Amino acid sequence: MQRHLISAADLTRDDAVLILDTAEEMARVADRPIKKLPTLRGRTIVNLFFEDSTRTRISFEAAEKRLSADVINFSAKGSSVSKGESLKDTAQTLEAMGVDAVVIRHGASGAPYRLANSGWIDAAVINAGDGTHQHPTQALLDAFTMRRRLVGRDAGLGQDLDGKRITIVGDILHGRVARSNVDLLHTLGAEVTLVAPPTLLPVGVETWPCEVSYDLDSTLPKSDAVMMLRVQRERMNAAFFPTEREYSRRYGLDGDRMARMPEHAIVMHPGPMVRGMEITAEVADSERCTAIEQVANGVSIRMAVLYLLLGGNEPAVSHPRNTEEK
Ligand code: NCD
Repeated sequence: MQRHLISAADLTRDDAVLILDTAEEMARVADRPIKKLPTLRGRTIVNLFFEDSTRTRISFEAAEKRLSADVINFSAKGSSVSKGESLKDTAQTLEAMGVDAVVIRHGASGAPYRLANSGWIDAAVINAGDGTHQHPTQALLDAFTMRRRLVGRDAGLGQDLDGKRITIVGDILHGRVARSNVDLLHTLGAEVTLVAPPTLLPVGVETWPCEVSYDLDSTLPKSDAVMMLRVQRERMNAAFFPTEREYSRRYGLDGDRMARMPEHAIVMHPGPMVRGMEITAEVADSERCTAIEQVANGVSIRMAVLYLLLGGNEPAVSHPRNTEEK
């Protein structure tokens, strides 16, 4: 595995399966009364958030604390960034404090790449979402959720998502979740179909390793998982569809549409959900929707990524029985 995690496209199949398998071990820790491992004791991790976040920020912090790392939280609001300080100066300040890893979310696509390759810092860099570009840990937690639900928990170990049919619906143009998922799902052997209005598809989408459709109803019966994405209003500078009602009517998931999906198929959403827009409350609250499960799985995935990148010398989770056998 590389030293940084910048893009889902940088992961090989073996890297991705190793992360999913390690996350499965980490998930077992969450079932224990004391949910803490000593693995990253003495290591310092900074969460550098230049853009709003609820789930991702809390999830990284929970993962770091469960691995016993020292955690520093930094959000651009209230820091010297609002006084015009550059990414370089911020990075060098962190370096001076001796941090081992930086988790960064930034509005500019490419900011984590710049940080990792600039020589400004020595720490491992983990991308927690950059502009419209990538959000690799989200794709990993989505793949983890799909593998658990569609292949099985124990049966899934060592497995990828070979032949699973995944439909991703919504704002593909501005969506880093869509981009990261297409990359990772392709690496894991899944067949991906994107469904969106033509205005919300990026130029060059035909070169991506997936199918494209404008018709949600005909895609649903052929899906093992349907991932609904939020329309990223904050990244839009023009009108991309006539009205919200029109958008929901054609691309929103309601109970009637969900009934067209095969019985075993799941509905996914990375959050934040805009109920009534891309998903109705009925679907969001149904048994088939994995949104909350995805959040829980996010902690296990981020523990696995941090553990693997920061190269803990000890096994992530100690198994007393295995030690006896040796
Ligand atoms: C997504 C994000 O920030 O890219 N959310 C998340 O990380 N859970 C998706 C979104 O904002 O719609």
